[in-house]
Amino acid sequence: MDQSEHGIRTDFKEDMTYGDYLHLEKLLDAQQELSGHHDETLFIIIHQVSELWMKLILHELRAAIRHIDSDDLQPAFKQLARVSKIQEQIIKAWDVLATMTPAEYMEFRGALGNASGFQSFQYRLIEFTLGYKTPHVLAIYEKDEKLHEELLDAYRSPGLYDAAIRKLARSGFTIDLDVLDRDPEESHESDASVEEAWKEVYRNTPRHWELYQLAEKLVDIEDWMQQWRFRHMKTVERIIGFKKGTGGSSGVSYLKRVLDHSFFPELWAIRSEL
Ligand code: HEM
Repeated sequence: MDQSEHGIRTDFKEDMTYGDYLHLEKLLDAQQELSGHHDETLFIIIHQVSELWMKLILHELRAAIRHIDSDDLQPAFKQLARVSKIQEQIIKAWDVLATMTPAEYMEFRGALGNASGFQSFQYRLIEFTLGYKTPHVLAIYEKDEKLHEELLDAYRSPGLYDAAIRKLARSGFTIDLDVLDRDPEESHESDASVEEAWKEVYRNTPRHWELYQLAEKLVDIEDWMQQWRFRHMKTVERIIGFKKGTGGSSGVSYLKRVLDHSFFPELWAIRSEL
């Protein structure tokens, strides 16, 4: 066996290396610039890194839902805390992208055609898992049966907030049946019984400590999600001003509108009433 002078193995003819394990050949071969312009590499990598982090966010969110559904809140808290930390990372990524000027972006924007983050499959999966259901995006994935099925499945399934509300009901709070039996294909709408339940949790935190912790973890996730949306919108304004997006939307005006959507509205509403 070959050993370097520090006793570290250097003979990997038979064994798996770091690169084999991580499939780095595939991963590092996936940056195929179309324009030949220097800054396109940054543009591709920032999207790919964001998509990798989104993969982990989904993995953690799905596990957290399973844990909440089985009344096992401690592991769910750990998973939700991890989601927030990842969100912090992808928000910081905007600082790297903001080093790209409008002039640099214009060098390769034409090569993108109609491709846009609007078509990000995993971003929609995250929104669906958080309970924000936008049926108009489903058609984008019709050309890929597997993706379309996976997205439809998330679209038709209850999300993280449904799991939290069911947990409120199991903990003895009176939640309207309309909410508990709601159609998961619709986005969650603010409900008075859910608001009352959260209010009680926040008014008596020692008694409802676990639910209080759950609520704050959800607020963290929505807070970071909004910060991500805000930084995206501002970075886009910095780079393309008020031009239309490659996906065909009005651009910054569309991204500002999306900011109005709240995932867990009652958890924000109660803050004015405590
Ligand atoms: C120069 C950089 C970027 C520009 C100019 C840009 C521009 C835009 C615009 C204008 C939209 C609205 C849809 C459209 O008309 O295309 C959009 C949507 C979106 N972009 Fe970006 N973007 C950039 C970087 C990124 C990055 C790094 C990500 C990370 C994955 C991303 C993810 C998304 C997502 C998920 C949407 C959908 C948002 C929603 O519908 O709520 N974008 N982008």
